[in-house]
Amino acid sequence: MRRLRGGSTATRGLQAETAGASVLPMRNGGASMSSPLAPPGTPIQPLLLAEGVSKAYGGVRPAQDVSFFLTAGRIHALIGPNGAGKTTMINMLSGIVRPDAGRLLFRGQPMQRLPPHTICRLGIARTFQNLRLFRDLSVLDNVLLGRHGRMRNGFLVSLLGLPVARREERLARERAVAVLGFVGMSQLAELPAGSLPYGLQRRVELARALATEPELLLLDEPAAGLNPQETAELGQLLLRIRDQGITILLVEHHMDLVMAISDHVVVLDYGEKIAEGSPAGVQADPRVLEAYLGAPDPEDTPDGVPDGAAAQHAAAGG
Ligand SMILES: Nc1ncnc2c1ncn2[C@@H]1O[C@H](COP(=O)(O)OP(=O)(O)OP(=O)(O)O)[C@@H](O)[C@H]1O
Ligand SMILES: [Mg+2]
Repeated sequence: MRRLRGGSTATRGLQAETAGASVLPMRNGGASMSSPLAPPGTPIQPLLLAEGVSKAYGGVRPAQDVSFFLTAGRIHALIGPNGAGKTTMINMLSGIVRPDAGRLLFRGQPMQRLPPHTICRLGIARTFQNLRLFRDLSVLDNVLLGRHGRMRNGFLVSLLGLPVARREERLARERAVAVLGFVGMSQLAELPAGSLPYGLQRRVELARALATEPELLLLDEPAAGLNPQETAELGQLLLRIRDQGITILLVEHHMDLVMAISDHVVVLDYGEKIAEGSPAGVQADPRVLEAYLGAPDPEDTPDGVPDGAAAQHAAAGG
């Protein structure tokens, strides 16, 4: 898809709008287990636990006995070189792909065999590495499609126009409008999604995921194709989403973004978890350095290498 950079006016508008944006409608009222309001010493339960998760496609093994947990109300990043297994993990967490082995527990309940729509109803939403928008539908209708995943009444009730369905439709529309306000896109609601600059299209996808009222948001490279200003704005938006109590798992190659906003980082390489911890700790981890750089060459520092690791690599002479 062609990337348009002509959206600076709209982007400036976003900043103004988001400053006073309404609060997202949320199923848990914004409370999170890591809330600063929780009394000291309150045990923090994992929102999601991956335990010994494995997946193979023939000889390719994008997940090899991977374990980690996600804490409610935090931004977790999942990083690793191309082909490390990040998207496969997101696919497993969203029910698109079933693990061959291991367990996925969401709020303590096994979910590794649940289909995607059930997982969505449990409170896990995702965006895709490649945009999946209906280009001819309006921005609002694209966001409404996310809402529909959460509506209780079936297609027939909706088709018959029963009062209960009309009420639900109205509520869905109100929430979709609120989400668009939150992401700073109210003015663009009626435009065809395909007419927007690329960065804003990615934001529509994010809004659609938010419209499902998730507790956990899985983002597969949301900054891919964004310019530095758009990436910085995305970072601010993700922090505001987290401040609403929504937990985020961020798959991203933009290391500046990962290091700036993540509370916790998990690093995959060839389907194995090779490191996890704080952004600073992971940046300094020699295994991470090796995974990103491969055979050391001080002259060559590829894009997406965590800065600290690269600096350490250079300091070590190679
Ligand atoms: N459906 C599939 N069938 C066969 N191989 C697959 C399938 N899905 C993923 N793979 C392989 O699994 C490995 C991990 O892929 P995955 O897309 O999870 O990597 P990634 O970490 O998301 O990479 P990138 O940063 O490039 O997006 C790759 O070698 C990929 O080719
Ligand atoms: Mg991927």
